[in-house]
Amino acid sequence: MNKQHNCDVLIIGSGAAGLTLALHLSKNADVVVLSKSLVNAGSTYYAQGGVAAVFDENDSIDSHVADTLVAGAGLCDEAIVRYTAENAKTCMEWLINQGVNFDKEAPTGDVGEQVKYHLTREGGHSHRRILHSADATGKAIQTTLVEQVKSNNRIRLFERYNAIDLITKKNINSNDKNKSSDKDECIGAYIWNRNTEKVESIFSQKIILATGGASKVYQYTSNPDVASGDGIAMAWRAGCKVANMEFNQFHPTCLFHAEAGTFLLTEALRGEGALLRRPDGSRFMPSFDERAELAPRDIVARAIDFEMKRLGADCMYLDISHKPEDFIKQHFPTIYQKTLELGIDITKQPIPIVPAAHYTCGGVMIDKKGKTDLQNLYAIGEVAYTGLHGANRMASNSLLECLVFAKAAAEDIEKDLKKKVKYLPLPVWDDSRVTDSDEEVVIQHNWHELRLFMWDYVGIVRTTKRLERALHRVELLQREIDEYYQNFRVSNNLLELRNLVQVAELIIKSAMERKESRGLHYTLDYPELSNEIKTTILTPNPL
Ligand code: FAD
Ligand code: SIN
Repeated sequence: MNKQHNCDVLIIGSGAAGLTLALHLSKNADVVVLSKSLVNAGSTYYAQGGVAAVFDENDSIDSHVADTLVAGAGLCDEAIVRYTAENAKTCMEWLINQGVNFDKEAPTGDVGEQVKYHLTREGGHSHRRILHSADATGKAIQTTLVEQVKSNNRIRLFERYNAIDLITKKNINSNDKNKSSDKDECIGAYIWNRNTEKVESIFSQKIILATGGASKVYQYTSNPDVASGDGIAMAWRAGCKVANMEFNQFHPTCLFHAEAGTFLLTEALRGEGALLRRPDGSRFMPSFDERAELAPRDIVARAIDFEMKRLGADCMYLDISHKPEDFIKQHFPTIYQKTLELGIDITKQPIPIVPAAHYTCGGVMIDKKGKTDLQNLYAIGEVAYTGLHGANRMASNSLLECLVFAKAAAEDIEKDLKKKVKYLPLPVWDDSRVTDSDEEVVIQHNWHELRLFMWDYVGIVRTTKRLERALHRVELLQREIDEYYQNFRVSNNLLELRNLVQVAELIIKSAMERKESRGLHYTLDYPELSNEIKTTILTPNPL
């Protein structure tokens, strides 16, 4: 018999989206936040550049909307873009009230002077509109939210718990033929306690996926280890539609250094004047786009990839050394310190960079309130597809999306929560026939194989043949992993691999459906933009 927990609201994921939602709901509900690693392990903590919102009097909502639509290459949902831009300021004020310390302009000393935030600039933005905490904005947001959550007695934080799969009413009624035609609803999840290595279950009135993105499906990524697309895979297995999975954003400038691991060099560097250079020191962006270094990310990443391949170079270079030393140290202290430890003084020399997988623009389809197709199941943050990003996300719109949709989902959930609820006993997790694996090497091998062929065949530049090859390999891996999953006890690597292979299949199939090049999806077989504007929607087979 596995242990069952009960709560009003189960939030799977402890990044900006999950924690914001937990805080909004905690006045009226018992909330559990699940985090498969330590609480700060998600992408939020590593965000550098900042959060986009109209704070400057010369800027406008219309301009934020227009820039987002241009970056999204015709595929954004304009109503969602406007909704997000309009709610940005309120959401940022909420965050400031929680205690996040965004950089401010130096006071002028005028009587009645209002606080003025320092706004930086990033690619695609026609105005300075990025609020930031130097170059460690995510850390400031994440640590503040965690502090608030930890001091809130209506929120229980379950660290080192992986959600394995969602539980729906049909799982309970699977033997009851009459019930199986009813509309299904989510009632909880199986969760794996990494401390005891036991599977437990949790019943909840509302379940929210806030599990972040899936960039770990690629060999080179700016993302932390937890970004394995678990929420997308779980939702898909539970019957939810996913959209636009072909649009994986590659960040143009990740540090290229053998000892660096994954480390991003924020786009704000380019916003503040950094230039991209070839190994011989010459610039190349002006010949690719009139916006040069401040073109949207898809264009910059492709230009870098093109130049690296053309010259057979291992990397290109990002150079801010022409700016005053004090300015660099003040605005980019984290990057200055990190690179200095590796022997690169960015005030004096250019930084070696390569593009890496950074952001999953597609995801679980939701409406304006964060609701998925499955009753009682919501998805917010990077796991979700809202329509905001279209074919290419504009910098710093992601944390914003987490905040705006957490608020929207909270309002919807609050209206619907029952005061008194009968906790249903959940079906028991059966692991009576599984054994401990003595073949961990198989999982390790499949991990590497998957991420490598996704990088080589489904990366920045694609072809139909490469996609077909990748799909064939994914299908083989899927069979192997399914068999493995049936026979061996769960482990973090196995759970993540199972999810990543599922997400890889969704990415490849979506990419194969798109017979054009648009935004982040570029294929040599269809290099032109099609006249047809279409979101790619994949629907799972009914269970
Ligand atoms: P995350 O913050 O990734 O959190 C996901 C959570 O889900 C984690 O706690 C994880 O442990 C948990 N989880 C996952 N699977 C499971 C499971 N199966 N069971 C239990 N828990 C699970 N965006 C911006 O707007 N501005 C920026 O400046 C910016 N900079 C970035 C810099 C870097 C290096 C990176 C990687 C991303 C950056 N982004 C930025 C993107 C942005 O940080 C993310 O899109 C955003 O933080 C996602 O927040 P989230 O809450 O959806 O997910
Ligand atoms: C960055 O700081 O360059 C990342 C910003 C983002 O991904 O939105």
